[in-house]
Amino acid sequence: MTVKISHTADAQKFLEEASGLHNDAGNPRAKALIHRILRDSVNIIEEMAVTPEEFWKAVNYLNVLGTRQEAGLLVAGLGLEHYLDLLMDAEDEQVGKSGGTPRTIEGPLYVAGAPLSDGFARLDDGVDPGVVLFMQGQVKNTDGAPLAGAIVDVWHANTGGTYSYFDGSQSEFNLRRRIVTDAEGRYRFKSIVPSGYGCPPDGPTQQLLDQLGRHGQRPAHIHFFISADDHRHLTTQINLDGDEYLHDDFAYATRDELIAKITFSDDQQRAAAHGVTGRFAEIEFDFTLQSSAQPQEQQRIERVRALED
Ligand SMILES: [Fe+2]
Repeated sequence: MTVKISHTADAQKFLEEASGLHNDAGNPRAKALIHRILRDSVNIIEEMAVTPEEFWKAVNYLNVLGTRQEAGLLVAGLGLEHYLDLLMDAEDEQVGKSGGTPRTIEGPLYVAGAPLSDGFARLDDGVDPGVVLFMQGQVKNTDGAPLAGAIVDVWHANTGGTYSYFDGSQSEFNLRRRIVTDAEGRYRFKSIVPSGYGCPPDGPTQQLLDQLGRHGQRPAHIHFFISADDHRHLTTQINLDGDEYLHDDFAYATRDELIAKITFSDDQQRAAAHGVTGRFAEIEFDFTLQSSAQPQEQQRIERVRALED
């Protein structure tokens, strides 16, 4: 027999009290959110007949999630981060904001304050023997005009699928740079081809995905923040064509317009022109920004990020 008490006046009063609704201190928004969360929580407990054992298992899960710093990974894996993108897309559509490179998830691995350079940067420190990658493109507005002085803030994983800062064995800001576009709106960088990666196999995110019968793998990708004066900030990533997880990303970040063709070449004449020897890869990708007069839209959304003030 499933017992339900949440509809009773006593239970409702109790949840209001626990949410601070009977006092004048605190933060009204926090109270409203917590009240809703508590009401929904007890509804879930009652309707799904959650046992005390399941409840305490979930509480412990949150502790493990925090200890392992995987909350940001879990919200990506459960599709909630992508859902926020879908919601913002729908809002844009409603108010007629269209055009430009689509947004997609930021993920939890950005580090603020990467070195800034003009037009070109080398992203890798030369330690990882991955295939050399040359990537270039143009930042434009929705009329196709180049945006000089735009900032291309790029970060990606190494061939082991890990990110500097979070992987302490890599040098500071390895595979992270900010590049200012030239007079033609162009940016260029030299790096190494990143590898796809998965959730830590022994971590709580993968543990939950296992319960859902899902894998925790991402295709190889490169993250970007693109910004320019009087334009909307763009948070996006490109996913490398040909990756086995391209359309099976556990974080749901792949969007058709963000699939980048990567061309591998063994042509040693062209390699020499690039100043390298051996196999190399090239990607050409342009970014298009919507114009915006609103200062708030011109900046990335606020969230806690590594090394950000
Ligand atoms: Fe990533």
